[in-house]
Formats: sequence, C-alpha cells, structure tokens
Amino acid sequence: MANAQRKILVTSALPYANGPIHLGHLVEYIQTDIWVRFQKHRGHHCTYVCADDAHGTPIMLRAQNEGITPEELVERIGREHRADFDAFHIRFDNYHTTHSEENRQCAETIYTRLEKTGHIARRTIVQAYDPKKQMFLPDRFIKGTCPRCGADDQYGDNCEKCGATYSPTDLKNPVSALSGVTPIEKPSEHYFFKLGDFEGMLQFWLKGGHIQPEIARKLDEWFESGLQDWDISRDAPYFGFGIPGAPGKFFYVWLDAPIGYMGSFLNLCGKRSEYKFEEYWDGRSKVELYHFIGKDIAYFHTLFWPAMLHGAGYRLPNGVFCHGFLTVNGAKMSKSRGTFIMAETYRKHLNPEQLRYYFAAKLGSGIDDIDLNLDDFQARVNSDLVGKVVNIASRCARFINKNFANQLSRTCTELDLYQSFVDAGAEIAELYEKREYAHAMRAIMALADRANQYIDENKPWVLIKDEGMESAVQDICTVGLNLFRVLIAYLKPVLPITTAKVESFFNFGELTWHNIQRPLVDHEISAFEPLMTRIDPKAVEAMLEESKATVAVAQPPVTATNPHLENFPIGETIEFDDFAKVDLRIARIVKAEHVQGADKLLQLTLDLGGETRNVFAGIKSAYSPEELEGKLTVMVANLAPRKMRFGMSEGMVLAAGPGGKDGKQIFILNPDEGAEPGMKVK
Ligand code: 2FM
Ligand code: ZN
Repeated sequence: MANAQRKILVTSALPYANGPIHLGHLVEYIQTDIWVRFQKHRGHHCTYVCADDAHGTPIMLRAQNEGITPEELVERIGREHRADFDAFHIRFDNYHTTHSEENRQCAETIYTRLEKTGHIARRTIVQAYDPKKQMFLPDRFIKGTCPRCGADDQYGDNCEKCGATYSPTDLKNPVSALSGVTPIEKPSEHYFFKLGDFEGMLQFWLKGGHIQPEIARKLDEWFESGLQDWDISRDAPYFGFGIPGAPGKFFYVWLDAPIGYMGSFLNLCGKRSEYKFEEYWDGRSKVELYHFIGKDIAYFHTLFWPAMLHGAGYRLPNGVFCHGFLTVNGAKMSKSRGTFIMAETYRKHLNPEQLRYYFAAKLGSGIDDIDLNLDDFQARVNSDLVGKVVNIASRCARFINKNFANQLSRTCTELDLYQSFVDAGAEIAELYEKREYAHAMRAIMALADRANQYIDENKPWVLIKDEGMESAVQDICTVGLNLFRVLIAYLKPVLPITTAKVESFFNFGELTWHNIQRPLVDHEISAFEPLMTRIDPKAVEAMLEESKATVAVAQPPVTATNPHLENFPIGETIEFDDFAKVDLRIARIVKAEHVQGADKLLQLTLDLGGETRNVFAGIKSAYSPEELEGKLTVMVANLAPRKMRFGMSEGMVLAAGPGGKDGKQIFILNPDEGAEPGMKVK
C-alpha cells in the first residue's frame, strides 16, 4: 500500500452499567465503529477499546433495590450491552469493565503520581447525610418542599414546578429519598484534584488542533471563569475503588471512568502479546489516540482527563471528537411518543445495518444534533441502499448467473468509467478520515446513480432478446457488477454484513480499499442472493408501539452529562404558543439593595423604559449591589406579582447556574449595551 501503516487507538465513551443501550448511545458507537473499520480497511493498525462504566451511587442503589450485589448487576448489564453492540456490528477489539483489577491498577498509579507531585488537596466540606442509611446524599436523593413556591416532593437542588434552584439545606421539610428520614448536615474530608495547576499545559494542548473549534470556544469560557479544584472522592458506602491510604474514601466514578480506557487496553495486553502498554501510553508514545464522545462530556475529556494524564506522566490524546445528541422526529426522544427507542427494541423489528447507513448519511464532523426522522429514514434507506446500490447487482447478476454460467467477461469494456469510480476513492477516503460521513455517502450515491444510468442506457434486458447480442449483455453486466463491487468496497465500513455477502458472491476473498484497483474479469462468481429488503412501514410502527410499552420498565437515564445537564435535565418540549406567553423584556437595574433578614435576596428596582418594577432576586451570594447598578438584564415582565416576606415581587430576573455552596455560580443574563429597557425579547 502507498501510505505508511499508522498505529491508532480509538475509544468510545463508556456506557453506564445501570441501563440499556438506546439509539442515542448508538450514534456514537456507530460513528466510532465506522471510523475504526475504515482505518482497518485502509490497512492501518487500529484498535478499538471500550468498557462498561460500572461505579457510582446509582449503580450501588439499583443493585440494593434488586437485592443483588453491584458486581452481579454490572455483570448482567454488561452482557446485555455486549449483545446490543454485537447486533449493531460494533466490533470492539476489547470490551471490559471499569470494575476490574486492571482499572484499579491504572487508577491507583495515576492517583499516586498526582498525589506525590502535589496535585491533590484535602479539605473538609459539609454535606447532607442520611443518618438511617448512614450515607451522604447526592442532591438528587433529597426531597422536600420548594422554599419558593411550596410545591411538595421536589428534589434537593431544584423545583420542577417553579424552576427555582437552591441548595438542599434550603428545602423545607427535607427528607432522604432513600429512607424518608430528615437528613442532617455532616462534615467530611474530601480529596480534590487541583485542575488549576494544569492551566498552562491545557491551554497549550487545546491550541494544538486536538479538539473541534466549537468545543474550543466553550473551553475558553471555562478558562475565563477559572479552573476549579475537582472533588474526586466520595465517602463510604460507595461502589468504586478505595483511595490508597484513605480508609473509607472512594474515587468518584468520573475519576476512574476515563481511566477505564487504559484499563481496558491493559486487559487487552494481557490477552494479546503484540500489545505493549508502554508503547501506547508512555509520555512519548507515537501511537495515535482518539476519543469519540458526546458533547455533554467534553469537560471531562478535554480538561480533567488530559490534565490527569499529563500530571501522571502519560501521553495526551491526539483528538477528542465530540458529536451532538440524537433527536427522533425532530424532538427529544420521548417515552410517551414511543421514540425513546432501545437498541434491543430496534433490532427486534428492523435491520441494524440500515440504521448504520442512516446515521452515516446524517453525520458530519461537527457537534450539531442529528435527527432520526422515521419517514425520511425509510425513504432514504429504500431509495439509496435498496433502490440504487443493491439494484445494480440484482439487475446484472441474474444474467451472469443464468445466461453465462456465472462467468464474467474476459475484459472490462468500460475501463474509463471503471477508473473514474476507482479515482473517486481518494476523496471518499478523505471524507471518512475527517468524519464527514454524510458527505462521503452523498459521493458514493452519486456514483451509484452513474452506474444505474450506464445500465439504463445499455438495457441488457432488451439486448438479451436479440440473437447474437449475448456477449454484449455479458460485457455490460460485467461492467455493472464491477462498478457495484467498487461501491461496496466504499460502503464496507458502514455495511459490514452486506459486504460479507457481496464478498462471497464475488468469490474473490475480502474486499479492501486497495484490491479494487483492477476490475474483476474472466472470473466465476456465485449465485446472487438477495442482499437487503425495503423497510416495512409496519415494522417501524411495531417498534414505536413496543417502545411505548417498555416505558413502564425503562431504567433511569443512562447518560451522565455535564453537571448542569445532569442536575437539570432539559425539560419536556413545549409548543411555541407556550413560550410566547412568557413576556421577556430588557430592563435596567437602576437600584440594588440588601434586604434585611434575607440571606440570599437582593431587592432590585428595574426600569422597563418608563415603568418601574420591584423584584426580589436570589443572587446575593454572587453579586454585590454596586456591581449590579446600571446593568441591563432580562426579566419576565408578565409574571403575576407575588407577596413575599419582604414585600411584593413584581416579576423575575433571569439568571443561570446551579447556585452552589460557594454561591458564586449564578449569572444574570446581561444583554449587550445598545439594547433598550422595555424591548421585547424574542
Ligand atoms: O456519560 C456517560 O454515560 C459516562 N458513563 C461516560 C464515561 S466516558 C469515560 F470517561 F469513561
Ligand atoms: Zn417551587
């Protein structure tokens, strides 16, 4: 082959071992698998590792609820995950679990090195504690009455009724969601990774083109707000690895999750002697390393992970490739509409390769969300794969099989046409390499159109009726089948099963990117077997029906996100009319004052351009009155006035952020100067 062989290690994010794989997950595994298969197809040495993300409180609690050990739960879910991946032809070179000795070894090595070099800090923090369950409670495991609107049964960090955010200590009548008792506040020493120590190194690495520009912009914002210490410990009871030298303390699941990439690789080294751990992970490794992840976990992979690797003397990734989320029929996957589709449900009704093709036809290298529109899915697959690609073969193969005893002509009569198909391979390869699959699929389908046009123009089905034209028919069909063979070579990373069938049809061993350089002539092929059928709309319906029915037994959400999305999942979709009812206006804060007796509130006087409003806003921990005065902000102007202990509040100022214990994480919305008080926000 022309290019030197590259050595590449590729990972996809590790799925949590507490729930099933759904189509949202599959976007990523399919995207990665196509890329890996492409690299192998081009002759490179590419290794794809993954694992189950096995640790953390939700997994521990779920196992308790089921009356089994976390190990048993992880084992069972692991089996289910592997079966789903298999069915969608995701071909890992190794699939392991983060709850493994290899991962423990890697996590301990990294932690110990960071500790020795002074990158771990310890300090005591106070958290809610369930005295009955004898465990610290993550915010989402505390429930109570909303301090703002009085709604019962709200989570410890936000109210689903009125949208207020607060810390669990503000909840009225807080109870532990686990035992029902009132939590107490309890101090405990935590371990922190000093991310700020790595700011310079991260800034340098991030400028090296290893991440997409959209993510780089996001990171700039994070740098601007300062890199905070990261809490990497959790107290017992916790399902995870104990921290060396710290009895009763465990690594937080997000510490040993990315290390799971290494752990899985180390496990592979134990199975196959050609793999050497140091060659892949040493600080000076020449092996290329790429992580495919969802955009929601970029923070972990572009800040914590490279900093940890570097701090421990390991190599850095060459690329972190983020993708967007999946929507179905234009909206967030919804259980009630049946569009929250599990991998298992899909595969019961439909062909996994067709989903691989559809995702490929939608995926680019950016972080935009991709939509699975089920009508478009059927139209696209039926038209492209069945109507265009497979059709070329079925039109030509029957003549070769029936009239010419399976024998291809001695020569290819359309060498120029054939060569143009071969030449197109360079651009298609480049598109795969850059993860521009949608563009690659369009280029391949344009070739399929040309092949069909050639057959249409030459009409073998008419010629076969003319005496003396037999060899012309054989030639035309030989050309048609050769063009088809090139197309399948290009589609091989996307359609591995169809490709295997086509390989046995051509009787010529494995198709590679390189052995299509010459046409196949004077060669005996096998009988043509149907390759793919059209999507039956009834099967799509049945899948949706079954998805609705499985809602009742669906598991808790399986994707962790950045902390904001994790703690406040994006709400149900609303119609435009609902949104339009909220009258948002630009307002100028003309006065801001402390409120006597209120810990959190500031009293704001807002100028709406002629009209003045008095509003109490819970932003005292983040802003001093002086810094607010004169600022523009955005307010809900048609909120019914509410009587508060300190007076009437006539509207609401919009602010973002979780609040948080140090109180700094609240940001008022601040339009650019030039906006005028009273302007409607649309
Ligand atoms: O977001 C998630 O689903 C995590 N389980 C991903 C972990 S990726 C890696 F860091 F392990
Ligand atoms: Zn509320």
